[in-house]
Amino acid sequence: MTPSTRIAVLASGRGSNLQAILDAIAQGALQAEVVGVFSDRRDAQALQRLPAAQRWAAAPRDFADRAAYEAALGDAIAASAPDWIVCAGYMRILGEAFVARFDGKLINIHPSLLPLYKGLHTHARALEAGDTQHGASVHFVVPELDAGTVLAQARVDVLPGDSPETLAARVLAVEHPLLIASLQLLASGRVTEQNAQLQLDGHPLFSPLVLDSARMLQPA
Ligand code: GAR
Repeated sequence: MTPSTRIAVLASGRGSNLQAILDAIAQGALQAEVVGVFSDRRDAQALQRLPAAQRWAAAPRDFADRAAYEAALGDAIAASAPDWIVCAGYMRILGEAFVARFDGKLINIHPSLLPLYKGLHTHARALEAGDTQHGASVHFVVPELDAGTVLAQARVDVLPGDSPETLAARVLAVEHPLLIASLQLLASGRVTEQNAQLQLDGHPLFSPLVLDSARMLQPA
């Protein structure tokens, strides 16, 4: 882990995961800097978490098409020279050209135990299915929605009487340490990815790492 690990964050909303990254850096738990926050919504609360000079926001409808929007977004991100780009509540599907441009350095945090419940409304879907456990995943981004290789997961129990909101809150509480632990690992250079195969310390990783009660990632 070097002090110079540069992290760019894509966010559409509240930005609590971005705040968790900022807090971990401030506490010395993550040797990195957030070089910018990038949003498809000018009113995203996440933007307010960084100084104005490090914010970029544009509405996709102001561009000729999605490709033009993502080219501008990509140019802004590239100008911040990030080592890692974290989708943290970025609520748009990223196109093939964008994903290819940042291949290997683009990760997403998703509120389900992937491959379960790609897309939206994950908490309601887990409840409807009667699942006893639910959680969150950190995965590499590929053009297919929420389908990239999963690096790490955190689990929570589904409790009697849970609503989508109570379950979402419990998942969010593990998302933050999951994201920080994942970024610590990625920043350390111990994880590599080639042809959708992750390696940890040079050994193939056949299933996602799991966040333990000490907020450390362990083999499943
Ligand atoms: C988080 O729960 C994140 O997993 C989810 O949006 C929330 C953002 O919260 N992301 C997705 O659903 C992406 N498909 P935050 O803005 O407070 O970090």
